Amino acid sequence: MGRRFVDQRRRDPYYRAAQREGLRSRAAFKLAYLDDRFQLFRRGARVLDLGAAPGGWSMIALDRIAPTGIVVAVDPRPIAPAEGLRVVRGRVGDPSLVERLGEASFDVVLSDMSPSISGAYATDHARSVDLVRSALALALRVLAPRGAFVAKVFAGDMVDELVLEVQPHFTEVARTKPPASRAPSSELYVVARGFRPDARRRERPDPARAPRPDSDI
Ligand SMILES: C[S@@+](CC[C@H](N)C(=O)[O-])C[C@H]1O[C@@H](n2cnc3c(N)ncnc32)[C@H](O)[C@@H]1O
Repeated sequence: MGRRFVDQRRRDPYYRAAQREGLRSRAAFKLAYLDDRFQLFRRGARVLDLGAAPGGWSMIALDRIAPTGIVVAVDPRPIAPAEGLRVVRGRVGDPSLVERLGEASFDVVLSDMSPSISGAYATDHARSVDLVRSALALALRVLAPRGAFVAKVFAGDMVDELVLEVQPHFTEVARTKPPASRAPSSELYVVARGFRPDARRRERPDPARAPRPDSDI
């Protein structure tokens, strides 16, 4: 770990707050913000958390659906156990994953997946978009009617097209950058609510004519 990174982290108020509050990641603040703003969780909800390690988002979700809901956390990296948390060691994109989830349907599907960073902006953006597409494909199979889908994506020229792929399946789609996202970071979150399982796959709309999703970035 480089010295500059360590210094930056020490000065980062979200990192320090995460340490103080015993959270598994500073990313936890991003999900707390998204839930406060978009009301994603309700008591008793079933949540699928993709790219969940080390588990910061899963802990926030568990707290907000307690005492009766369940969180299924998927990642190839290990995640420490917790009450109400089911850990599935695996990768989104693996066709056998859906059978291993142990639940047939979810109220919320989250993806905070990040690709391994190459440093080449266009490559990292394209990989991030691919991860969202894989998460969306899984979400379309497991989401309950009116469910929500939230996914991180690295900003770039394919985001508009990605949002257009999400839109037909939900009644509302927004994109946002939580305050805890580091200012220079290129990440943003697509938040889709009101899953419509019966939405027919339409012809892809012309991006120039499509309505702009509710957006703050
Ligand atoms: C930024 S971290 C997630 C942090 C997490 N939300 C938290 O609050 O602790 C991104 C994670 O995405 C995971 N990931 C990347 N590709 C994945 C894939 N295909 N399937 C599942 N997880 C993946 C990585 O292993 C990594 O743990």
